[in-house]
Order: sequence, then structure tokens, then C-alpha cells
Amino acid sequence: MQLKPLTFGRVKIDFPVVLAPMAGYTDAAMRTLCLEQGAGAVYTELTSAEGIRRDSAKTFQVLEAAKGEHPIAGHIFGRDPQAMAEAAKYVEQTGIFDWIDINCGCPVKKVVSRGAGAALLKDLPLMSEIIKRVKGAVSLPVSVKTRIGFNNDSADHLEIARMVEESGADMIAVHARLAKNFHGGDPDWEKLGEMKQQLSMPIIGNGGIFEPADASRMVKASGVDGVMIGRGAIGNPWIFGEIKAELRAFWSGAI
Ligand SMILES: Cc1cc2nc3c(=O)[nH]c(=O)nc-3n(C[C@H](O)[C@H](O)[C@H](O)COP(=O)(O)O)c2cc1C
Repeated sequence: MQLKPLTFGRVKIDFPVVLAPMAGYTDAAMRTLCLEQGAGAVYTELTSAEGIRRDSAKTFQVLEAAKGEHPIAGHIFGRDPQAMAEAAKYVEQTGIFDWIDINCGCPVKKVVSRGAGAALLKDLPLMSEIIKRVKGAVSLPVSVKTRIGFNNDSADHLEIARMVEESGADMIAVHARLAKNFHGGDPDWEKLGEMKQQLSMPIIGNGGIFEPADASRMVKASGVDGVMIGRGAIGNPWIFGEIKAELRAFWSGAI
């Protein structure tokens, strides 16, 4: 098992240990600190496609990024394929972002009750249409941030992986928990490994990395192409440098 720079489309993440999108926590200052400490890439705050459509000042505020924040994904959510395509086009036209990321994993009521975020895991044809429309609307690479499923009755992790790839996404980041479990219970890293086996595009694994040793355990257990840190980076941007040192054993590029 070896880690190497992660590339998809025109994006190159030199060291694939990235900061997770976290609404309300990951403003430009926090993201800049994480990049300075070794994060390989960052995502904007969760940005509403409908908000962009309505020209909402609040939405444009959450999409703000500082100079020098790269690579950075514009992280959008919504359920209407047309609005999502228009939002992606807007994000591209700002000229600020390196790729577009589609949220298909947020379980909070405000998002799911509108049929967006994790609710899309219960409607794979709609999720597929959104990915295809976004992909068709922009020339930037497109990724999907999702989960291993919504609940035990919904599509499983392998169906999700297959659909996301067939719909034309360039990269997938997967939180190894069901949406119904929010952030509770053990993450299922084995399922990340099963997805990796099936996919040609890169997969970033997420969920449950709080210590540098957790990152190497995830890489060993699943063979993912990169890791994503959420709560472990809140108040602790140094975790990226520590993980970099920890993952040296798996590394095949220059540090
Ligand atoms: C406060 C908070 C806000 C979050 N906001 C988002 C979000 O806007 N978009 C998203 O895809 N995931 C969001 N997540 C989920 C994280 O990106 C990540 O998948 C999750 O925290 C699991 O990773 P961890 O165990 O390293 O924290 C959020 C998580 C937290 C704790």
C-alpha cells in the first residue's frame, strides 16, 4: 500500500491529507491555518445552490475564500439539477476555485428535509442527474462528498460508488458512516476498501481520524488514495503536519 500525490482532472493534491468541509467552522482563516500546517486541500463552507440562484448575500459570504487558499473546492448543495448546474457554473466563473464538490452526505434536518445532502442517497437517479448536469456545466473537475449509505434499507456503498463514477465524477470522498448515524458509532473503514477496489477514480476516506495513528490505520485497512480530517482539525491545525510525518512510511513522492 502506497500513498502518492492525488490527481483528478487538473487538480493535484501534493500530499493527500485534506480538511473536511465543516459548516460554521471552516472559514478562510481556519482553512489557511490548516494549509499552512500541511493540509493538502480544503473545501469551502456548505454553499446553497438556491442561495446562489436567489443572489443571496449570505450565500456569497459563505463562499468567500482568501488569496492563496489552494487547492480549494467550492462545496455546493441542493436538489434541483438545474440550480446545481447554474451554481457550479457560477462557482467556476469566480475563477477562485480549483474544483466543484457536490454535497451528498449532510444529514441535518434543514438540508435533508429539502431533499438535498444525504437525502440524495435515497434517490440515486436524481443524485446521478445532478452529478451529470454539474459535470456538463463546468470545465473544472467535479467531486462528490458522500457517505456509505443513508440507512440499512437504502442503496449500499458499492451501488453508490458505481453510480457516482458512471455519472462522470472525477473524485469521491466518503464518510464511512450511514447518514442515519450522523457522527455516532464506529466508522466502517472496510467498506471504504471495498469501494476503492471497485473504483477507477480516486477515493478519499473520511471518518474517525483524531490521532495521526488513526490515519495510518485507515490507509492500511482500506487502501484509500487520501484521508480527510474533520473534527480532529477543529482547534488543532497541527494535526496535518503530524499526519504527514505519520504517513511517511506509505509515501512514494517527495515530502
Ligand atoms: C460541525 C460539522 C459541520 C459539518 N459540515 C459539513 C458540511 O458542510 N459538508 C459536508 O460534506 N460534511 C460536513 N460535515 C461532516 C464532515 O465533513 C465529516 O464528514 C465528518 O465530521 C466525519 O469526519 P471526522 O470523523 O474526521 O470528523 C460536518 C461535520 C461537523 C462536525
